Amino acid sequence: MASAPHSRPLYQSPPAYGATYYAVPHQPVVNVVVVPARDERHRTNSRFCRAFFWGIVIWVLLSGLVRSYMEVIHWHHRRRHHFPYAVQWPAPWEYQIPDNLYMNYCTPSDGWKDLGRVDGRFWAAETSFYLLLSFVDTQLYFISRGDMSGGSSKFVVDNNLQRNLVRINVTVRYAEPFLRDLVKACEVFRTNDEMGVGLFTPHFQDDRSWNQFMWFETTISLPSYPSNHIIENLETDLPNTVHEIKNLAPYFFENVHLQGSNAPITSDAFHFRQASIKTSNSPIIGTFNTTDSLVLKTMNGNIKVDVGATATRRSSPNVVLSTSNAPLEANVHLFSTKGEAGQYEVATSTSNSPLGVTIGTQPVDAIINFSGSTTNSPAVAVLNPLFEGTFDVHSTVFGPYVRADARLEDPSGRGRKRFVFMRNGKRDIQGSVSWDKGGPSMGKAVLKTTNSPATLNL
Ligand SMILES: *[C@@H]1O[C@H](CO)[C@@H](O)[C@H](O)[C@H]1NC(C)=O
Ligand SMILES: *[C@@H]1O[C@H](CO)[C@@H](O)[C@H](O)[C@H]1NC(C)=O
Ligand SMILES: *[C@@H]1O[C@H](CO)[C@@H](O)[C@H](O)[C@H]1NC(C)=O
Repeated sequence: MASAPHSRPLYQSPPAYGATYYAVPHQPVVNVVVVPARDERHRTNSRFCRAFFWGIVIWVLLSGLVRSYMEVIHWHHRRRHHFPYAVQWPAPWEYQIPDNLYMNYCTPSDGWKDLGRVDGRFWAAETSFYLLLSFVDTQLYFISRGDMSGGSSKFVVDNNLQRNLVRINVTVRYAEPFLRDLVKACEVFRTNDEMGVGLFTPHFQDDRSWNQFMWFETTISLPSYPSNHIIENLETDLPNTVHEIKNLAPYFFENVHLQGSNAPITSDAFHFRQASIKTSNSPIIGTFNTTDSLVLKTMNGNIKVDVGATATRRSSPNVVLSTSNAPLEANVHLFSTKGEAGQYEVATSTSNSPLGVTIGTQPVDAIINFSGSTTNSPAVAVLNPLFEGTFDVHSTVFGPYVRADARLEDPSGRGRKRFVFMRNGKRDIQGSVSWDKGGPSMGKAVLKTTNSPATLNL
C-alpha cells in the first residue's frame, strides 16, 4: 500500500470481515516451504536441517490451524459466500484510493441486496446511495479505482425522485461469490465539498485468473423537478467505464469534467458552461451544448457529435474536438445571446481517418476561427455561407478544393454582395470570403490533410 505513490489504505473497512483477510498470508508459506522441505528430507542428515524441517512442520500445522479457525469465523459471518479462492491472493489488499478523498460510509458486507445469479453465469448484487441536492452549489463526484472496477455509468432523470435527492444505484456483477467482499462501494467526499460515490476493488500485482472477474453498472438519477436546476460541478474519474448521459435537459452544469478510458461516452442532451470530456480507444457520440468551452478528446475511437455553442455576455465559445486513427464527424451550431454576433473557436483534428465538419448555424457577423486537420484521409469542411474571413486549404498529392459561389444571395436578407478571392498554389489554396467588404475583424478557416483531398465549402 505504501509503495503506490497516490494511494493509501482505506481507513474505514467494513467491520464484519475486515479481520478475516489478515489470516490469509499464511497460505503462501504453506505452498512455498512444504514442497522443498519434503524433497530435501532424503538428501541431508544434518541436525540443522532436521531441526529446520520440524520447525517448518510445526509452523505449517499451526498456521493451518489458525487459518481454519479464521475460516470458521468467516463462515460464521458470511454463511453464503465461499472463501477458498481468496486465500491464493496476497493480502492485505491494495486499494488505490486518492489521498484527498474521504470515505463517509461504505456498504457493509451484509448491506448488499442479493440479486442471485441473474443470467446463469454471473452473480449480481445491488446497493444504493442518496445525496442531497444543494440549493446553492451541488458538486458531484464519481470515482473508481482497481483492477475490477470497470463497467458502465448512466446519468438519468427520474420522475419518482424527491426534488432534492440524487440517487445512485450500483449493481455489481461478479464471476465468483467471494469477489463481492472485495468491493468497497462508498459515499465519498473531497475537501472542497464535492460529494459522490467511489467504487474500489483491489489492485493486483500479478495477472488475474479467469474467475477474478467483476464489473459495475451504476445509475445516477437526478430528480426531474429539482429545487435548483443548476449543478456547479460534475466530475467523474472512471477508468474502463462507459459514460452514458441520458436526456439531462432539466439541468445546467457549470463545470463538467468526465474522465473515462477504453469505453465510449455518449450523450442525448447535455447543457453546460464548460466541459472537458475524455476517454480513449473508444468513441464519443451524441449531443453537447456549451455556453463557453467544450473539449472532447479520445484516441483510436471516432467522434460523431452535434455541438451547440452559445456566446453569452461573458463568453466567446471554444470547441475542441480531437481524436486519432478514427473518423471525426461533427455538426456544429453557433448561437449568441449576447446581443451581438460573438467570437467562436472550433478546432477539430484526427489522423489517418476522414474528417467531416459542418457549421450549420451561425449568427450574422460572427467571427469564427475554424481549423480541421487529418492525415492520409479526406478532409471536408462545410462552413455556413454567412462565414466571413480568410481561408487556407492544404493537401498533398491530391489538390485542395474550395467551393465558394460569389453570386450567392445574402442569406441574412440584407442584400449584401459577396466577395470571394482565391490564390491557387500547388498544395494550398488561400483566399478570403466576405459580404460587402466584411467587418473590421474577420474569421479564419484552416483545413489540412495529406495524401488525400481537402475540400472546403463556403
Ligand atoms: C434504483 O433502485 C431502486 C430500488 O431497487 C429502484 O426502485 C429504482 O427504480 C432504481 N433506479 C433506477 C434509475 O434504476
Ligand atoms: C444544442 O445543440 C444542438 C445540436 O447542435 C442544437 O440543435 C440545439 O439547438 C442546441 N440547444 C441549445 C439550447 O443551444
Ligand atoms: C485560431 O485557432 C488556432 C488553434 O485552433 C489558434 O492557434 C489561433 O491563435 C487562433 N487564431 C485566432 C485569431 O484566434
